[in-house]
Amino acid sequence: MAKTTSKKKYILAGNWKMHPQSFTEAKKLFAGIEKAAKTASKVEVIVAPPYVYLGRLAAENVSLAGQDIFHDGEGSFTGEVSGPMIEDAKAKYVIIGHSELRKLGDTNFDVSKKIKAALNTDLVPIVCFGEETRSDDGHHLDFLRTQIQQSFTGITKKDIEKMIIAYEPVWAIGAEQAMSANDVHEMSLFIKKVLREQWKGIKVESIPLLYGGSVDENNAGTIVQQGEVQGLLVGRQSLTVDSFKSIISTLNGL
Ligand code: PGA
Repeated sequence: MAKTTSKKKYILAGNWKMHPQSFTEAKKLFAGIEKAAKTASKVEVIVAPPYVYLGRLAAENVSLAGQDIFHDGEGSFTGEVSGPMIEDAKAKYVIIGHSELRKLGDTNFDVSKKIKAALNTDLVPIVCFGEETRSDDGHHLDFLRTQIQQSFTGITKKDIEKMIIAYEPVWAIGAEQAMSANDVHEMSLFIKKVLREQWKGIKVESIPLLYGGSVDENNAGTIVQQGEVQGLLVGRQSLTVDSFKSIISTLNGL
């Protein structure tokens, strides 16, 4: 069964997506991040590299995450990677339901199967949710509620309490600007409300909630403090040592 993660530290996860193009570059980037993480006692730093680098990067101060997981544990599934393999590569976490994979076809039900696959291992799922667009009539709230409820289909309250939730509005990913900290706060309250409605008595405060979408060193601190989230999921700014290091030290200084 999946272990619970540290509740007190800020969580900073860097999703490298399909970067960098060589292991030499990956090693260099990882070593720089490791050095920065070593002095940041208030931050749990996580890096999700491409699978081909996963088992080859190891560090004491940086946890590793898979970028995805296949819903079956073993079998004839060309190109897929199982939970036990990700664990064997020394990862502690796995990102599930990232919007880029949802765009390529992952449905909410696929996401729920992947969560169950992760729960059959010791991996802690970092489950991503987020609306594609926002509208004045609140349609995005219904979209998000459905996404959460369907993605957590068949998942018990006890198991949800073991996960990390990453709220990533799709329109803010790879964009010029992040969501405002006030809006992040509003959305984090909404997500907690949805969880409480669906799973009575759930300890929402013990489920780390991250924000993702155009986070950088200038907005990281405000989003975490005013948005009242426990951490961040970062794409582009996790690809250079300097930018990721600045976010690490911002969170460590809060
Ligand atoms: P970004 O990506 O930080 O480059 O916007 C975030 C993500 O996709 O998780």
